[in-house]
Amino acid sequence: MKTVKRSAILLVVPVVFFLFMAACSGPAEIGEAPSEAACSALVNTKCVRCHYKTRICDALGTKSVANWKRSIKFMIKQGAQLTDDEQEKIVACLSSLPRGSDVVCK
Ligand code: HEC
Repeated sequence: MKTVKRSAILLVVPVVFFLFMAACSGPAEIGEAPSEAACSALVNTKCVRCHYKTRICDALGTKSVANWKRSIKFMIKQGAQLTDDEQEKIVACLSSLPRGSDVVCK
């Protein structure tokens, strides 16, 4: 009996730990949008080297999160320089901004 209890505890501890970690990283994975100022700063520093912002403005409101991720990966293949954190942020920005948003289109 004793060993059964102990292995049950050994199982519960990592599960609880995992749930705790999942709860903490949850919002970041769904992609809580950074502030408009942060989004604007990212676009203005990372995305205007190769094309005008109109390129990005035109795409607002037409892509899912997955599609934006794919687009950003493509930009990186072209030579855009973004850390993992910046990629997540910009995807969260672009997938949440409405069509014609001043953040990108102004
Ligand atoms: C190193 C160069 C480079 C940088 C930096 C760059 N792009 Fe691009 N981007 C391109 C090229 C090249 C194309 C044209 C691809 C085509 O015409 O099919 C493009 C096209 C696009 C398009 C239109 C096609 C599509 O996927 O909808 C969007 C939107 C876009 N870029 C967004 C961005 C964003 C957002 C950033 C900043 C994170 C960025 N780009 C930074 C090279 C770059």
